Amino acid sequence: MKIASIVGARPQFIKASPVSRALQHAGHHEVIVHTGQHYDAQMSDVFFTEMGIARPDHFLEIGSGSHAEQTGRMMVAVEHTLLAERPDCAIVYGDTNTTLAAALAAVKLGVRLAHVEAGLRSFNRTMPEEHNRVLTDHCSDLLFCPTQTAVANLAREGIRLDVHLVGDVMYDAVLHFAERARAQSRVLSTVGVQPREYMLATVHRAYNTDDPVVLQRLLGALEAIGIPVIFPLHPRTRARLATVSNGIEPKHVRLVDPVGYLDMLALEQHAKVILTDSGGVQKEAFFFEVPCVTLRPETEWVETVSSGWNVLAGSDPDAIVAAARRAARPAAAPPPVFGDGKAAHRIAALLS
Ligand code: UD1
Ligand code: UDP
Repeated sequence: MKIASIVGARPQFIKASPVSRALQHAGHHEVIVHTGQHYDAQMSDVFFTEMGIARPDHFLEIGSGSHAEQTGRMMVAVEHTLLAERPDCAIVYGDTNTTLAAALAAVKLGVRLAHVEAGLRSFNRTMPEEHNRVLTDHCSDLLFCPTQTAVANLAREGIRLDVHLVGDVMYDAVLHFAERARAQSRVLSTVGVQPREYMLATVHRAYNTDDPVVLQRLLGALEAIGIPVIFPLHPRTRARLATVSNGIEPKHVRLVDPVGYLDMLALEQHAKVILTDSGGVQKEAFFFEVPCVTLRPETEWVETVSSGWNVLAGSDPDAIVAAARRAARPAAAPPPVFGDGKAAHRIAALLS
C-alpha cells in the first residue's frame, strides 16, 4: 500500500520515526511529505539524521506565517503533492497546523486519512492546537489513540467507529533511543552539569511566549528556583525573550539552542525535575520517572497528573517555584498507560 506521511514540526518527526520503521517492516511504500513548518537545522534536519528517518520525498518549504497563511499555503501544496502521488492513505500526527492542513487537503481529495495521537483534548479552546485536534479527529477515517482517555474523549464527541487504542508512538521512540542517548550524548558535560543537580525547562506555547509579562514571570520563576536550569530555547521563545530580558543575564538559567533528540533524552533522564509546557516533554518526564512541573493550567496528558508524576503550576511564579522545590518521585512507579512500546507496529498492522 502507498502511504503518505505528512509531517512538518519537531514533534511530528519524532512521532513519525517509529511509524516509518514499522511501515517499512510491514512492506508498505511510504512517501514522506515535509511541509517545512519547522525549517531550522536544529528543529528539523537533526531529527531525520539522528533517528534515521528517510529524506522527505517532497519538501514543501511553507515556513512561518499567521495561522491562516501557513495553513492555507500548506493545504494548496499538500493537495498538489497528493494529486501527484495518489496514495492509498495519508497519515497525520498530533495537533499542529501541518496536521490540520494535511487532513483537510487529503479528505477533500477522497484520500483515506489516519490520525496518530487522536482523541487528545485540553478543553481549552484558546489553544490553536485544540482546534487542530478536534477538526482533524472529526474528518479522520482511522483514529489511533495513545490512551484510554483519548478513546473516551472521542466517544463523548460521537466518534466510535474505527477508533483504535494502540499506545503512544512517543513511548516507542523513547524505548528505541534512550539507550543510545545514554551511550552517545555528551550534553551534560557540554553544558557543565552533573546528573540530578539541575532542572530542565522548555517553553514554547503561544500563551506563555506571546505576552511579554507572562514570559518574564516564567523566566523569573525558573531563576528563583535557585539551582541550574538548562533551558533549550525554541526559536519562537528566543525571539520573544530578546524583547523581555532587558539585557539582564540570568545566573541559574542557562539559555541554550534547541538540542537534538538524543541530547534531549539525555538531559531528561538525568534531570532532577523537568519544567515544561510541551506535551511531548511531559510524557518523556513520565517515561523516565522524573517529576514534572507543567507550566500550563491544564494538560491533555491527564494520567501523568493523576499518577502524581506531574503537577500543573500554570504561569504563576510562586506556584512554579514551590512545585519545583517540592517535586519528589512518588512512591509508585508510573502506571503503564501509554502502551507497551509497540504502538507503531499496531498502526502498521491496522493500516494493512
Ligand atoms: C508549533 C505548533 C505547536 C507545537 C510546536 C512544536 C501550531 C499552531 N503550533 O508551534 O502545536 O507544539 O510547533 O515545537 O502548529 N521558527 C523559527 N524556525 C523554525 C520554526 C519556527 O525561527 O524552524 C519561529 C518563527 O518565527 C515562527 C515561530 O517560530 O513564526 C513559531 O513557529 P510555528 O511553527 O508557527 O509555531 P510553534 O510555536 O513552533
Ligand atoms: N525536543 C528536542 N529538543 C529540544 C526540545 C524538545 O529534541 O530542544 C523534543 C522532545 O524530547 C520531545 C519533542 O521534542 O520529543 C517535543 O516537541 P515540542 O516540545 O516542540 O512540541 P509538543 O510536544 O509540545 O507538541
